[in-house]
Amino acid sequence: MLSRPASSAWISIAAFSAFTAAQIDYTQYVNVFQGTTNGGNRFPGVVSRPFAMVKLGPDVVSGTTDAYSGYLPGGNIFGFSLMHESGTGGAPKYGVVSQMPATNNVSNPLTDLSQGRSAADQGAVGYYRSQLSNGVVVELAASEHAGLYQYTFPSGTSPSIVVDVSHVLNSWRGLGWEQHYSKGNFTFLSDGHYEGSGTYNNGWNLSPDWTIYFCGKFSENPTSSRSFKGTGTTLVAYNTIPSVSGNERVGGVFTFGNTSIKSRVGISFLSSSQACQNLDKEIKQDTTLNSLTDKAKETWNAEAFSKIQITGASDDDTKLLYSSLLGMFLIPSNRSGENPGWRSSEPYYDDIFTFWDTHRCHTSLFQIVQPTAYEELIRSLIDVWRHDGYMPDARSSNFNGRVQGGSNADNVLADAYVKGVRGAVNWEDGFAAMQTDAEKAPANNNDPKAPDSSTKEGRGALPDWLKYGWVTPTYTRAVSRAIEYSTNDFGVHQVAAGLGKTVDADKYLNRSRNWRNHWNPDASSNNHTGFVVPRRANGSFVEQDPGSCGGCYWGDAYYEDNSWIYSMNAIHDVYTLKEFIGGDAKFVDRVNKIFDLKIFNVGNEPAFTTAYLYNFVRGEQWRSVDRSRQIAKSYTAAANGLPGNSDAGAMESNILWQMIGLWPMTGQTTFLILSPWFPSLSISLGTGKTLKITTTGGNKDTAYYVQSLKVNGQGWDKAWVSWNDIFANGGTMEFVMGDQATNWATGVLPPSPASGDV
Ligand SMILES: *[C@@H]1O[C@H](CO)[C@@H](O)[C@H](O)[C@H]1NC(C)=O
Ligand SMILES: *[C@@H]1O[C@H](CO)[C@@H](O)[C@H](O)[C@H]1NC(C)=O
Ligand SMILES: *[C@@H]1O[C@H](CO)[C@@H](O)[C@H](O)[C@H]1NC(C)=O
Ligand SMILES: *[C@@H]1O[C@H](CO)[C@@H](O)[C@H](O)[C@H]1NC(C)=O
Ligand SMILES: *[C@@H]1O[C@H](CO)[C@@H](O)[C@H](O)[C@H]1NC(C)=O
Ligand SMILES: *[C@@H]1O[C@H](CO)[C@@H](O)[C@H](O)[C@H]1NC(C)=O
Ligand SMILES: *[C@@H]1O[C@H](CO)[C@@H](O)[C@H](O)[C@H]1NC(C)=O
Repeated sequence: MLSRPASSAWISIAAFSAFTAAQIDYTQYVNVFQGTTNGGNRFPGVVSRPFAMVKLGPDVVSGTTDAYSGYLPGGNIFGFSLMHESGTGGAPKYGVVSQMPATNNVSNPLTDLSQGRSAADQGAVGYYRSQLSNGVVVELAASEHAGLYQYTFPSGTSPSIVVDVSHVLNSWRGLGWEQHYSKGNFTFLSDGHYEGSGTYNNGWNLSPDWTIYFCGKFSENPTSSRSFKGTGTTLVAYNTIPSVSGNERVGGVFTFGNTSIKSRVGISFLSSSQACQNLDKEIKQDTTLNSLTDKAKETWNAEAFSKIQITGASDDDTKLLYSSLLGMFLIPSNRSGENPGWRSSEPYYDDIFTFWDTHRCHTSLFQIVQPTAYEELIRSLIDVWRHDGYMPDARSSNFNGRVQGGSNADNVLADAYVKGVRGAVNWEDGFAAMQTDAEKAPANNNDPKAPDSSTKEGRGALPDWLKYGWVTPTYTRAVSRAIEYSTNDFGVHQVAAGLGKTVDADKYLNRSRNWRNHWNPDASSNNHTGFVVPRRANGSFVEQDPGSCGGCYWGDAYYEDNSWIYSMNAIHDVYTLKEFIGGDAKFVDRVNKIFDLKIFNVGNEPAFTTAYLYNFVRGEQWRSVDRSRQIAKSYTAAANGLPGNSDAGAMESNILWQMIGLWPMTGQTTFLILSPWFPSLSISLGTGKTLKITTTGGNKDTAYYVQSLKVNGQGWDKAWVSWNDIFANGGTMEFVMGDQATNWATGVLPPSPASGDV
């Protein structure tokens, strides 16, 4: 049985009239609170369809704990706002365009109006409910560009709703990444509706001022409408003058003679009249909360959940699967038609947070489950390059930033290209965007955390990479950046090769091998020799314990993991790596050591692929299976069920690949074979194509070693398959399982495309 933490409750509201008997309502298996505690930072509020721009939920203040998605299970709610991120770290972003109910006439709207909760928040796909200590019940539903608040006030109170334009999620970490309210504009009109805009800046990506417009309407005419203006908690004006603006705190207070109030609010990045249009198009005066919730469930079922169907799974595993699928598609945000930066017929996606996290296994599953949105994302990345000069590694509030390692959009584009994403993608421009990363050093944005070079976009340490073929310690994160630049250059190679640019293809394949320049064959740690280490301009290696990455942060030689992990990360050149490490036996022992010495961190992406590199040694695939099962133990569908930050769904995509029994080698068509969990799992690939994976003779928890395999009906002795084998046109994989490890994979090893010269 899944344990349900007291802080979250699953509910099923509304009769599912929208579903016929033949359709399965997968939302019954979804815990929207998965990954909201234990550092997961997932957003549990309302997202009406995958990637919707509006993400409506509570904003909580709880001591000095950062509420990255707005939500925390404890603490006080100080507003319900329409924009959030999901599963991010660094610092909270958004939490803007908010409303807060009050049960009195609000003598000063600038004071603390926050409320505790008299019951745990409840949520389901398309629905959220909070019950505040003052007795007010707030229920939420949404569409793509608008939100609906259903307020129920206790009788005998003076129902009021406060709109504080200065409301924004705070950060208490003191790292300089907190958001700032810059200025606002608020107007209420005689028909009882209000509109305006708020401007904010900073946050983790160090964004300059950006503006969001809003338009709010109520089901009842307010008995009084007041605007306010002030600084801190000091009111400068609070009266019936309808319009206020400026860099003071501004907003309005609406008081009603009715205890049941429906409030609907639209947003837009373009104008307040566009916000009103978005609202009136998507949530009309008579639109009910239940109808929006039903539509959200229907859409999530059709566009995401029904794409993966399983049989024979336990209740817990079923919940883990569908809750994780939800978590994969909350961000990025589809802001097509809502780009304030430039006019373009290309799609526009924001809230990429970040490719550093997601390129390893999230984007490849994104393509499979959401191919239409994925093609739009790729087009959007290229359009950002056209107009902003670089593709993002991370982006929010219409601004690139920040870059932790390499320019990993290159890996994403390469992965899409080799797996056949074409459609309306202009790949000549795609290649030019990748080449910009590879050839043009970005201007330094003078980030206090890493003042040596740009953290905004591109490859800050590119001058060294071009000059030496490695990155010297004059740059922060020198080693981890260099390793990622190698994989990025491999991505550029892949697309160049596909487009027939043979000179470029050779050049970037060559450059993709430069990770080898950081390999010090004499560096040693725990009976292993040969590690990637910092290297000076004169070619000498810096002595550094491969087991230590110092602070492992922005100013260090390795970012968020040590040399044991980064030494394994040139996944396009594994044969060379095996040779460097000392052959098959040493290679297997090294991966074992990464676990035995507890260097492996299940919650951090740089180690994700390392666990399955056993497949590059004949007869050792079963060890990857053991690791896969070991890693899965860190996951459940519960609030604390992610082993760390969701990282924009990267963590959720990881467990989904374990269930499928495959592991993507990003930038290549290769998938390493692990061990599928279920008697059957089918992935709908669009246009009638299906990948069907079955297991017989096994048990997910006790008998999960591969005994034999057929792919598309043919016996299979390789520990990998390619995109063309099973995804391009669909296919079948029939596994026979057992409780003993066997040496079934005796065939050709997985490709190591950069190792040709070894
Ligand atoms: C609330 O305050 C406003 C402004 O002071 C006043 O006009 C209104 O009558 C008050 N409403 C109630 C219900 O007290
Ligand atoms: C505030 O918004 C109103 C209505 O949208 C607009 O007419 C006015 O110019 C804006 N004022 C400022 C200072 O932006
Ligand atoms: C309160 O609002 C509801 C729903 O709009 C309506 O049915 C009811 O008559 C209203 N009550 C009062 C006292 O205005
Ligand atoms: C993205 O948003 C645009 C504009 O609303 C819409 O036309 C498009 O279909 C959306 N894409 C997906 C994959 O839903
Ligand atoms: C590859 O790199 C080596 C060493 O830097 C260089 O000598 C060679 O010319 C390069 N080849 C290509 C095709 O760029
Ligand atoms: C390293 O090798 C020595 C000698 O064989 C052995 O005693 C020791 O346990 C090994 N250390 C590790 C971490 O494997
Ligand atoms: C390279 O520079 C380091 C640090 O300045 C120095 O210790 C070392 O001797 C130099 N090596 C060579 C080969 O010049």
